[in-house]
Amino acid sequence: MFKGFWEELPRPIIGLSPMDGVTDAAFRFIVSKYGKPLLHITEFVSVEGMNVGNPAKVFEPFKYSEVERPVIAQLFGTDTEAFYNAAIMVGEMGFDGIDINMGCPAKNISARGAGAGLIQNPKLAKEIIRSVKRGAKDFAEGKSSRDLDLPQTTKKFMAQKWQQSAQKRRLLPVSVKTRIGFDDIVIEDWVRYLLEEEPVNISVHGRTLKQMYTGEANWEAIGKAAEIVKKTETSILGNGDIKSVADAHTKLQQYHLDGVLIGRASFGNPWIFQGHYPTLPERLKTALEHAYKYEELYGTTFFHPMRKHLAWYMHDFPGAKELRVELIKTNSASEVEKILSLITK
Ligand SMILES: Cc1cc2nc3c(=O)[nH]c(=O)nc-3n(C[C@H](O)[C@H](O)[C@H](O)COP(=O)(O)O)c2cc1C
Repeated sequence: MFKGFWEELPRPIIGLSPMDGVTDAAFRFIVSKYGKPLLHITEFVSVEGMNVGNPAKVFEPFKYSEVERPVIAQLFGTDTEAFYNAAIMVGEMGFDGIDINMGCPAKNISARGAGAGLIQNPKLAKEIIRSVKRGAKDFAEGKSSRDLDLPQTTKKFMAQKWQQSAQKRRLLPVSVKTRIGFDDIVIEDWVRYLLEEEPVNISVHGRTLKQMYTGEANWEAIGKAAEIVKKTETSILGNGDIKSVADAHTKLQQYHLDGVLIGRASFGNPWIFQGHYPTLPERLKTALEHAYKYEELYGTTFFHPMRKHLAWYMHDFPGAKELRVELIKTNSASEVEKILSLITK
């Protein structure tokens, strides 16, 4: 099996779980610097969207910095040809791997058969893996976005922005991130299906689609998946409700996994991957650095996505609540700096 960077990644793998609207390039930069997780995955991007134009907006979640490597592009959708084209474009963008989202429970996505909707359509799920692998292979062998049936705006965008990295042709490993079931837990049958297409890795969030984010992640079910996956060359990462690195290590030992992904526990806490508890000055300094990084990457026309991060940094100290109230009204890093300077004086 071709494994790409997964081959050399030390075990256990502790990675940042992708979260749409949260793990953008600014947050991933900060997490790389202070947490150093072993891998990053972008927010998911619709392959159908990637094929219809408006590239500047659609491709925005694919921004990344070199410090994040290995960095994986995550795709979702149902159209196998769109997946094929997307794999080629992602190759040109210089990513280290491609992950297919088969776990998103959001109604607008799963109801059209994408994300966790694919758990109910294993035949299509397998076709998608095959298409992405075919795209990855064709990219490695010289195919480009200019050879594809894409809108001119997309071809132009790709040529201008990514021509250089497109020259570094190489095969990208293809992985899957999923849940333990749709309504009921079917993870054992489901991973057996997926394994027939030999994904390099399967990440399993221990909830069904029906659960959304309620209840607790079922690590026994993840463990059962691990027993099956461990008999193959595919690796497996467990995911769901991990609160600390110590917690991660307990799960790793108990369920014999290659690694874990940590999601929500990283909110306002890029240090989590190092098991470091930040001091107040560290929190304030990092929040400001994060705001400036956000501005550098995305400008100030839409600063809103940064505000929640600022609030997440501010807790566990006197005056944190008042600070949060002020920070969630900010529109630029300099406004953040002004507010924070009042308490650092
Ligand atoms: C706001 C939010 C956005 C998410 N977006 C994605 C996504 O784009 N792709 C994905 O595979 N999972 C996504 N997830 C799921 C997480 O990656 C992870 O599987 C889930 O939060 C459970 O892990 P945790 O308990 O450590 O947070 C998202 C979760 C949240 C809370």
